[in-house]
Amino acid sequence: MKDLDDLAAIRTIDVHDTREVLAAFPLQCRDALAPRADRPLTGRRPRVIVIAGMGGSAAAGDLVAACAADRVDVPVVVHRSYGLPAVATPEALLIAMSYSGDTAEVLSALTTALEWRVPALAVTAGGELARLAEERRIPRVIVRGGLMPRMAVGHLLGDAEIAEALDEISALAAELGPERPTAVNEAKRLAAAIGDRLPAIYAGPETGAAAYRWKTDIEENAKTFAVSGVLPEMNHNEIEAWRRPVAGGLHLIFLRDHDEAPEIARRFAVLTGLIGGSAGGISTSWTRGKSRIARLLSLIYLGQWTSYYLALLYDVDPWSVPLLEELKRRLGAPAP
Ligand code: PA5
Repeated sequence: MKDLDDLAAIRTIDVHDTREVLAAFPLQCRDALAPRADRPLTGRRPRVIVIAGMGGSAAAGDLVAACAADRVDVPVVVHRSYGLPAVATPEALLIAMSYSGDTAEVLSALTTALEWRVPALAVTAGGELARLAEERRIPRVIVRGGLMPRMAVGHLLGDAEIAEALDEISALAAELGPERPTAVNEAKRLAAAIGDRLPAIYAGPETGAAAYRWKTDIEENAKTFAVSGVLPEMNHNEIEAWRRPVAGGLHLIFLRDHDEAPEIARRFAVLTGLIGGSAGGISTSWTRGKSRIARLLSLIYLGQWTSYYLALLYDVDPWSVPLLEELKRRLGAPAP
């Protein structure tokens, strides 16, 4: 489709009404405010928290880890694989996070925790994870089902500061929906600016989780490649890749933070001078709100809508993920 303001055309491509799920994101976050474990977590304060998850569920873990980094004196490790890392001892806490409850890697993490006697909490909408946790009397937080995992990040969070973030994303919900014309809709403008180029998304250290989230949302919703990186680390490696002619086919997106350190602001300025001319185009978006969670969620929500409009520009249904589903189906089938 060419015109992101054509509501009838949007409905034709968005056959699963993804726009309504995105518009309800602030309500989803409000749901997460109530504590919902079905039995209390007992035992001592953990020495380390391991969050096991994949894809959209791991993204919720990234957010928790990013918010905890400057406020909680317990390390939070996001584990994206089978089994558990060696830090998962009986003095740790495993949070097994799978929206569907049927992700093999997360089930393997919980099974390993049971073997290693690591205290655990399951966060899921159901599936085998909910069943196994119930059977083994592991506390469960059961979240509302029926969504795509990457669009359920609000349900998977439970941070008290989310209350402050709600105001910001509620305001954004009113600004970014399909009814708001491109001229005053940041997500539509970003999607149009990216166009046929591949997005390269960079953020500072405090909002780096948002840059990675943009990449994965663009990959799953718009079904195209995306690059992401975090300053200052990307200054030490990825920056050199911008010397290649292929950089002209990329669209730079800087995710800036109103609260970023002066050193990071200076790095963005110098980086723009060095690689801005090589890119096919540049866009900059800014965080909203004060708390880390508000700043992260405001960027992530903008990225969700941007990837949604990019999908529409490419005439693809933002909801379905046929290759991912086929892969899971084949892995679930008996080996030949
Ligand atoms: O967004 C998606 O659909 C995927 O990235 C899933 O989150 C991923 O495959 C893991 O599934 P689940 O979140 O149900 O554990």
